[in-house]
Amino acid sequence: MKADFVLRGAGRLVTCAPGLGEGVLGVIENGALAASEGVVRWVGVESELKSLDFADAVTEIDAGGRAVVPGLIDCHTHLVFAGDRSEEFASRLAGRPYEAGGVRTTVEATRAASDDELARLAADRLGRFLSYGVTTIEAKSGYGLTPEHERRLLEIAARAAGPVEVVRTFMGAHVLPPEYADDPDGYVDLVCKGMIPSLGSLAEFADVWCDKGAFTVEQCRKILRAARAEGLSLKVHAEQLSHSGGATLAAEFGAVSADHLEFATEEDAMALARSKTIGALLPGASMMTGGRYAPARMLIENGVRVALSTDLNPGTSYTENLILMLALACTELKMTPEEAILGVTRHAAAALSREGKIGSLEPGAQCDFVPLDSKSELDLVYHYGVSPAMSVIKDGRIFTGPLADDAPL
Ligand code: NIG
Ligand code: FE
Repeated sequence: MKADFVLRGAGRLVTCAPGLGEGVLGVIENGALAASEGVVRWVGVESELKSLDFADAVTEIDAGGRAVVPGLIDCHTHLVFAGDRSEEFASRLAGRPYEAGGVRTTVEATRAASDDELARLAADRLGRFLSYGVTTIEAKSGYGLTPEHERRLLEIAARAAGPVEVVRTFMGAHVLPPEYADDPDGYVDLVCKGMIPSLGSLAEFADVWCDKGAFTVEQCRKILRAARAEGLSLKVHAEQLSHSGGATLAAEFGAVSADHLEFATEEDAMALARSKTIGALLPGASMMTGGRYAPARMLIENGVRVALSTDLNPGTSYTENLILMLALACTELKMTPEEAILGVTRHAAAALSREGKIGSLEPGAQCDFVPLDSKSELDLVYHYGVSPAMSVIKDGRIFTGPLADDAPL
């Protein structure tokens, strides 16, 4: 292998591969990285770089002593939607509680929007993700709720991928659409027989919202069974507004992640730890609905690996700012900075079944990384809510910042 890409001058190369460096974040001081064809082939101390073979043309980046982290991952977003719910938000500030039924407002606006409009909105959102150093997101359907509209949202998500990679999740079981308000079983049947079997490669995961105002454990179980039979990996929106039984359901199915978990109990935590289901926590949704925060410490102490995400959506958390979630994770969920950073890197990759491929800098992983505008990865938490990225590199290509291909010299 001849390296065609080199990163040098990483004062702290935060590999998020614990065996490769110091501590749980696997930090290599004075680190360097070599890649070829967009894949990391080597990481180590810079002084050892010279022993590698290099191609004739090599792209070189010098991080100038800064900290470098893997491209960040947002493992739970509702990327494709139209309209906004600012009035609903304002009424919440005046004391009205958040309810699942609000989703239907967005379903109406999304159905009415053209493909072009939805694609433009998704592209704008992806641009903002990239600016925060995010190189991969997950995107759920769930604001269409008919076979045609759900497909359309997944197709738009697929086309929206650019520098930011988009992993697609089918979420026809978000809430009951208005047409089926009196026929929940009819809708569950439609999801199982009229949507899931025809998804093909449009989605890799299926997600269900198990909660009051959404779907019951029994309804979710049917949908998860149908999804599993089609080869989809599984996720569950669990224990968000009430203790619904979603977490143990996720464990029962060996779901890749159980998301939210605000009302999770110790029993839930033990079940998730046993099934190796990642707990994806979404503190922005708690902050913006005035709801409770997930019991992150309890989950971690029971052995659950925790990821963090924005939950980007118009109802509970309208933001692409994954960096702000790190601050909330540390201040509100009482996670350590190291746990929070793993939550948007290695553990978020695991929540997308991509551990070792993204979210870490190790041989075999995609060459996605972010030189920070700082000497320490701690600034991801401390300099909260602002973009930490000096530039963003995805698959060995430089996309934003002063080093970007199209940046003025
Ligand atoms: O993750 N919980 C389900 N879905 C979203 C909210 C969707 C909405 O209100 O539009 C969430 O918080
Ligand atoms: Fe969500």
